[in-house]
Amino acid sequence: MKTIVVYSSNTGFTEQYAFELSERLGCSCVSLKKLDETELRAYERVVFGGWVMGGMIMGLDKLRGVATPAAVFAVGCTPPFEEVIADIRKQNNLAETPLFYLEGGFRFDKLGLPQRMILKAVKKSTAKKNDRTRQGDFMVEMLGTSFDHSDKAQLEPLVEYVEAS
Ligand SMILES: Cc1cc2nc3c(=O)[nH]c(=O)nc-3n(C[C@H](O)[C@H](O)[C@H](O)COP(=O)(O)O)c2cc1C
Repeated sequence: MKTIVVYSSNTGFTEQYAFELSERLGCSCVSLKKLDETELRAYERVVFGGWVMGGMIMGLDKLRGVATPAAVFAVGCTPPFEEVIADIRKQNNLAETPLFYLEGGFRFDKLGLPQRMILKAVKKSTAKKNDRTRQGDFMVEMLGTSFDHSDKAQLEPLVEYVEAS
């Protein structure tokens, strides 16, 4: 089936996964920013990947305006805690669409001031909570640092899914 990987990436982790995925599938890959709607008609299947901000998969709504993704991958900094993935599925209305969560990381140096400010505020308010979730603990420990938890082996279940369907 003629497939295209479309992605939205802020600091490069999702882009790296999208490139690797399209290589593994032997298919095209394009950034959502450069997507030409008419070009999409040449493809029977769209796999979409977006980075996660506040639980939302960035670019997914825009993509949905022009195509229905056959599978979605979400790239966040949080470890793959099941409750976090369940939240992402819910927040992004993905009950019917296969969702694959991939760990990215943080490239603090690549963030603009507004995003750094948001993260600083999130870290501060989360740190004050006594009943923190696992994700909360992780954010308090890691926000403000740069790290790379990406690993292309994480793509395996998605590659298998796409190849089998
Ligand atoms: C403002 C902001 C909010 C974020 N919110 C989340 C979040 O809710 N959950 C999560 O796992 N990661 C969150 N992240 C981390 C990014 O999803 C992570 O850095 C991801 O690897 C970025 O992918 P990219 O390099 O393709 O942009 C947030 C990052 C920023 C800058």
